[in-house]
Amino acid sequence: MDSILVTGNGPLSGQIPIAGAKNACLTLMPATLLSEEPLTLTNAPRLSDIKTMTALLQSLGAEVSALQDGQVIAMSSHSLTSHVADYDIVRKMRASNLVLGPLLARFGQAVVSLPGGCAIGARPMDLHVEGLEALGAEIELKDGYLHAKAPGGLKGAVHEMRFASVGATENIVMAATLAKGTTVLKNAAREPEIVDLVECLRKMGAQISGEGSSTIEIQGVDRLHGATHQVVTDRIELGTYMLAPAICGGEVELLGGRMRLVESFAAKLDAAGVSVAETDKGLKVTRKNGRVSSVDVVTEPFPGFPTDLQAQMMALMCIAEGTSVLEERIFENRFMHAPELVRMGANIEVHGGTATVTGVERLKGAPVMATDLRASVSLILAGLAAEGETVVSRVYHLDRGYEHVVRKLEGVGAKIERIKGQ
Ligand code: UD1
Repeated sequence: MDSILVTGNGPLSGQIPIAGAKNACLTLMPATLLSEEPLTLTNAPRLSDIKTMTALLQSLGAEVSALQDGQVIAMSSHSLTSHVADYDIVRKMRASNLVLGPLLARFGQAVVSLPGGCAIGARPMDLHVEGLEALGAEIELKDGYLHAKAPGGLKGAVHEMRFASVGATENIVMAATLAKGTTVLKNAAREPEIVDLVECLRKMGAQISGEGSSTIEIQGVDRLHGATHQVVTDRIELGTYMLAPAICGGEVELLGGRMRLVESFAAKLDAAGVSVAETDKGLKVTRKNGRVSSVDVVTEPFPGFPTDLQAQMMALMCIAEGTSVLEERIFENRFMHAPELVRMGANIEVHGGTATVTGVERLKGAPVMATDLRASVSLILAGLAAEGETVVSRVYHLDRGYEHVVRKLEGVGAKIERIKGQ
């Protein structure tokens, strides 16, 4: 298994290109199931999660090809052969559940494995099920699979979600595009990836309004057609690399970054003493001499502070002046990076969903283990700030969500290399 060797270093400078959003791409790809005509995505990230979604769509009979070194994904679902999302694929990646809404809408039936336990919490599917049932689907759980059918087709409805789940919003919106009549989804999630999905669905002929607000209205149509769509910038990759100069000092420009994608995160960096400015090409992040100040963080649905940046922000708070409190409100059990950071000399106490971090002057390099995608990158960031060498093992987690991490950080002067495993 490969690992990553990071050696602590001084200020960084240069530019880092930010890829298309993994989480947008993972919902845009299943949208191909809604139409017989081709859907092409540009600016796609080159990640193992995208390969997993490719394998899932191919298992349903869709044609999926990666062009231009994987940056373009050409898909066609004109002759699907299956409506079953198998456990063997779904267990690898929860986002596989995003085929449920599209399959149900186009074929009136879908069988999708429950994702099962996940390292960062239970992550059930009840909100997806409630929304699709409101549209007239009949869904039952048998042998670990959700069996969904809508013999007479889906029908538009007014539905209010109990919690603004990202995935449930995506599944319900996709399903409603082909339902009869109008659907009003209240307490919908507002994430930029949902706005991106709606923009793509609109290009395919869907009639949708209100995306980006908490009420989305969908007027069902008889069929959707083909389209080409550029995937929105990955705000989590953006935020992660914004933390590199924040941790090491220096000035780095994140190409393709936009402030509207990371407003609440940038405000926290600003409060910590790190400046973020929008340029023609992206976002410029600068940290001058001296330690950053500690800030408190509460994770919330967009536009609040993203849970997917909590682990990385904790790495910065480990070397901040003062004490910060990080409260995780989206997922249970999402502090698995904390004990690893402690092995590097961090001072962190975790009680339930709250971590209290008292900054130390310097972390110390150590062998550490990645436990999930965002945790693994937080350990790399911490390694950049540490004295000596840090070896992060189990980096297959990293390959799920960060393309060319070594090349991107090396490009701004970081000392980092990938060590091939046996
Ligand atoms: C998406 C993102 C993930 C991010 C998360 C929150 C993708 C592929 N993944 O995940 O990176 O961390 O949003 O921003 O886009 N829940 C239920 N019942 C449900 C659905 C969710 O209780 O039916 C709970 C979950 O257990 C979790 C919370 O709601 O505690 C948030 O989940 P959700 O917003 O659905 O996240 P995902 O779409 O899975």
